[in-house]
Amino acid sequence: MSTAVFPGTFDPPTNGHLDIIGRAAAAFGEVIVAAGINQSKSRLFDPGERVEMLSELVAQYPNVRVGTFEGLLVDYCRAEGAGVIVKGLRSAADYDYELQMAHLNHAMTGVDTMFLPTRAENAFISSSWVKEIARLGGDVAAFVPPGVHARLLKKL
Ligand code: PNS
Repeated sequence: MSTAVFPGTFDPPTNGHLDIIGRAAAAFGEVIVAAGINQSKSRLFDPGERVEMLSELVAQYPNVRVGTFEGLLVDYCRAEGAGVIVKGLRSAADYDYELQMAHLNHAMTGVDTMFLPTRAENAFISSSWVKEIARLGGDVAAFVPPGVHARLLKKL
């Protein structure tokens, strides 16, 4: 059974993330959605909140579970026995950035990266813009799952 890790900050999870989770669940035996919890002052949701939101989102997929990691992603993949990292790509800018990480991750441990193009309707969504729009009073209901939207409204 092949295990893939879908890593991210997920601060917060968006419709784009949810789409990649569903498609990865269909492609791999097991998927671990792994929230990176390296320290950063700019996080809106703490690791526990991000895990809760992700757990609600993956509940519909029996072969998907949620984890957290600190430190190098490749070390987490090795510890979990995962040979593949899954990433969503929205644009050429994402590709340039992600390609370098994919090469570095492979060079370090041999873990491979598979890219999934985001669906067109999600190609312009990012957690950071969602946070900014929500902070400034904009409506982000179309960009995030309903449970995440409710938490954003509560938080802000
Ligand atoms: O959702 P994001 O912010 O694009 O996720 C980025 C993340 C967490 C996947 C990436 O920053 C990462 O893998 N961090 C772990 C630290 C690491 O392994 N760094 C070396 C990358 S070559």
